[in-house]
Amino acid sequence: MSFPEGFQSKLPDVGTTIFTVMSRRAAEMGAVNVGQGFPDYPIDQGLASCVTEAIAAGFNQYAPMEGSVALRAAIAARISAAGGREVDPETELTVTCGGAESIYSAIQAVVGPGTEAIVFDPSYDAYDPAVRLAGGRCIHIPLAAPHFRIDWDRVRGALNERTRLIIINNPHNPACTVATAADLDALAALTRDRPIAVLGDEVYEHVQYDGRVHQSVMNHEELKSRSFAVYSFGKSLHITGWRVGYCVAPPALTRELRKVHQFNAFSTSAPLQQAITLYLQRNPDSWRALAAFFSAKRDLLRERLADSGLGLPPAQGTYFQLADYSQLGALADCSDVEFTERLINEAGVAVIPLSPFYREPPAGMRVVRLCVAKRDETLVEAAARISAYTRGKRVKP
Ligand SMILES: Cc1ncc(COP(=O)(O)O)c(C=O)c1O
Repeated sequence: MSFPEGFQSKLPDVGTTIFTVMSRRAAEMGAVNVGQGFPDYPIDQGLASCVTEAIAAGFNQYAPMEGSVALRAAIAARISAAGGREVDPETELTVTCGGAESIYSAIQAVVGPGTEAIVFDPSYDAYDPAVRLAGGRCIHIPLAAPHFRIDWDRVRGALNERTRLIIINNPHNPACTVATAADLDALAALTRDRPIAVLGDEVYEHVQYDGRVHQSVMNHEELKSRSFAVYSFGKSLHITGWRVGYCVAPPALTRELRKVHQFNAFSTSAPLQQAITLYLQRNPDSWRALAAFFSAKRDLLRERLADSGLGLPPAQGTYFQLADYSQLGALADCSDVEFTERLINEAGVAVIPLSPFYREPPAGMRVVRLCVAKRDETLVEAAARISAYTRGKRVKP
């Protein structure tokens, strides 16, 4: 259907995201879905019963705009227990509808017509449209191959008087990399004495492997005064459908973010906020188990794909694993979108191609993304189907 005459689409090139498309097709075809990033295992029943408890206790009307007092206190306590700075829940913390709404609100708060935001490709798909809806322009800088690191000289070259925001996703979806302290220092040096805010998309903060310690913009001595740091209970409590996240930012940035949030979502589900509060009060250390939980799943998937012929770059964090099919004989001639199509049609497994995460995908990219936040049986079945398929297709030397 075309737009009524006289109107113009604000996002003419935006369609349904690849995540939704692949999940829909996986459901239609009965394929094993290791594409879209959401758990297929049940949530903690203790958390589930906190919801009925909250509703029965009367938490059914508007929650405070900035998030419930008790939840913000519990979040601040958790940040402190994780070794972070003391956050003032009154002036520095806002509960939003998922991490996604924090990202949208932060972007609307600081980006405007004639200004620019820098993102690193491959990038999460929510950034660019939000920058454009704010009237700004998104500058896409590719992460340097083959390890997906930020080329800070390139960032320096992209800065100008219009730059208002740099978005850094750490741990990084879909690259599965983790930023170092040196990365944050470089970011601080480049944004020093300039009117540039930083948006740290840190929704996978607790999912870092092999003893890595999360480097947050919120705790960086210099960056903390000009950064929004965004988090998601969807990721940390395995409840992506509850849509509860939060943003930590200094008071001046928080004030601006809340102005946007107030007239968009206004507030976040009251019973779900209360349920999360009760759960955090009863399980203050639940986040500590996340890295081991997901690294066991990452290891299981990698082990089961060991003879698939797929290259498996190291995953430092997030609940994803990349797979490189460039050595798979004739299959290596397929684009990543074609390869994804073949996997779902011929092997019965849904994965996500990497090119939709780019403004300009690198030529010849042969990489897809798999989600490890799935039941072990799902991972084992997906790997078995993929391996059987690639073994059958591989050209023997
Ligand atoms: C990098 C990244 N940022 C933000 C989000 C959004 O988080 P939420 O589901 O809490 O809105 C996601 C979700 O997949 C993500 O992968």
